[in-house]
Amino acid sequence: MRRAVCPGSFDPIHNGHLEVIARAAGLFDEVIVAVSTNYAKKYRFPLEERIDMARETLASLRGIVVEPVGEGLLAEYCKQRGVSAIVKGLRSSSDFDYELPMATMNRQLSGVETVFLPTEGNYLHLSSTLIKEVFTLGGSVSDYVPRSVLKRLLAGESSSDQPGRG
Ligand code: PNS
Repeated sequence: MRRAVCPGSFDPIHNGHLEVIARAAGLFDEVIVAVSTNYAKKYRFPLEERIDMARETLASLRGIVVEPVGEGLLAEYCKQRGVSAIVKGLRSSSDFDYELPMATMNRQLSGVETVFLPTEGNYLHLSSTLIKEVFTLGGSVSDYVPRSVLKRLLAGESSSDQPGRG
């Protein structure tokens, strides 16, 4: 059984992530969407909500599980879970510059390979950070996020004074 992991903060998961995860599911028997927690980072959504959004969105796809990755090394997690490859989407050369040292380090730490998938053209500009900024400043993000994410963004808006409108 070939098992891959798609790791990330997923704060929140967006359509660019979904495209890469679906393509990874076509290449491997099982894909774990591993949701990370880094206590140095400030997240908009707590871990449980980031996991719920990913689970709700990916529920109809076979061979995909969503779970927390914990606080330790991704390389160690891959060893424990029998993961043979980390799959990451690449949007740009700056993504590559950021990802290459991590890919090499993860391979040296645990032997796990990293597979890069070129992000599809429509999603090259997407990031969770940009989506949150656009939403917070009142722009529409409905073309960029799955329904369960939009619902939660709007629910957060109604409990605050942010001007986002989906
Ligand atoms: O969505 P993000 O925040 O860019 O995801 C980053 C993530 C989770 C892939 C990265 O921070 C990571 O691998 N964290 C686990 C900790 C770790 O193994 N660090 C050493 C990397 S070589």
